[in-house]
Amino acid sequence: MTTLVAKAATGPLGTLDFVKVTESAALAASRWMGRGERDTADGAAVEKMREALADMDIAGRIVIGEGERDEAPMLYIGEEVGRGGFEVDIAVDPVEGTNLVANGLPNSIAVMAISERGGLLHAPDSYMKKLAVGAKAGPYVHIDAPVRDNLEAVANALERPINDVTVVILDRPRHAELIAQVRDSGARIKLISDGDVDAAIATAVPGTGIHVALGTGGAPEGVLAAAALKCLGGNFMGRLEPRNANEAERAKAMGFGDLQRVLTIDDLVKGEHVVFCATGITDGDLTRGVRFFGNNARTHSIVMHDDGTVRFIESVHRLSAKPFRASPHS
Ligand code: FBP
Repeated sequence: MTTLVAKAATGPLGTLDFVKVTESAALAASRWMGRGERDTADGAAVEKMREALADMDIAGRIVIGEGERDEAPMLYIGEEVGRGGFEVDIAVDPVEGTNLVANGLPNSIAVMAISERGGLLHAPDSYMKKLAVGAKAGPYVHIDAPVRDNLEAVANALERPINDVTVVILDRPRHAELIAQVRDSGARIKLISDGDVDAAIATAVPGTGIHVALGTGGAPEGVLAAAALKCLGGNFMGRLEPRNANEAERAKAMGFGDLQRVLTIDDLVKGEHVVFCATGITDGDLTRGVRFFGNNARTHSIVMHDDGTVRFIESVHRLSAKPFRASPHS
C-alpha cells in the first residue's frame, strides 16, 4: 500500500472520510441511549457504519467486526467493504460499550482502526489480559512484571508518587486479586462497568487523569486499543486468555500456536500505517457524547494517525426531517 497516511493527508482519503464512519455509528446508537436495548443500539450502529464504509474509496476487508459470517449478517469478519481503491484491513466496533449506551452511562464510543493488509491482528473472539500505558511509561512496564513493579515504574516515569497514579480496571469478580494488588501498592483505582478501549486510550492522553489500564477483557477490543496506542506512542501488551477449551481450540485453529505468548503492540498492530478514530456516543474521558438540538446533532470524535497527529473533530449534522421514533409509544 502506498502510505495510507500520506494519501489520507493529501489524496482522496481525508481524515473526514474516516471520521464519517464512526460518526454515523455514534449518531445511530445515541438515539437508543438509556432505552435498555443494547442489541438494538448495536444493530442501528452496525447498519450505519456499514453504509458509511460502503461509500469509501477503499478495498476494505473487515478483520475485526461483529463476528463470524454465520453469526453476523453485517460487518462480519472477512466482509469486503468500500467502492474499491487502497487495499486495507479494518477493525470496527460500532458500539464499544453496548451496556453503557443501553443504560446511558459514560464512555461508550464508536470505533474503527484501518491499516494496510495484514496490519491488524485477527484476534479470536476470546478474552485477553491487557496492560496499557502512555508514552512516558511505555518502555518501563511489562505484562509479566509484578503489579507493584509496573505501578512503581509508571510513577517514576510520570514523576509522581504512586498514590497519584490512577489505574482503570473493569469491575469484574475475576479482577479481585488484581484490585487487591493495586490497592496494596497505594495507587488509586477507577473501576469501570464496561468499555476498556476508551480506558486504555485515556492512559496515553494527558489530562484524562488515567495512567494505567490493567485487566482482562475482549481480545478484539485489545487490537483496537493497541491501534490507538500505537498512534499515540503509548504501550500495550496482551496475552490471550481463552475462557474454555473451545475458545482455545479456535485460537489455535486461527494460528495462535503458543497461547501463552505475550502479544506486543507490534504483534497486535503490525502495520506501518494506522488510522484510528472514535466518536463519542455518551460523554466520556476522551470525547463528548452525541448532543441533539433543534433538527441537528453535534458529534465529537478523536482521529489519530501513526505519524502522531491527533485531531479532535466536532461536527454538526443536519438530521432527517422525519422524526425519530424509538418505539410506537414515543
Ligand atoms: P460490548 O460493547 O461488546 O458490550 O463490550 C464491552 C466490554 O466492556 C469491553 O469494553 C470489554 O473488553 C468487554 O466488554 C469485557 O467483557 P465482559 O463483559 O465479558 O467482562
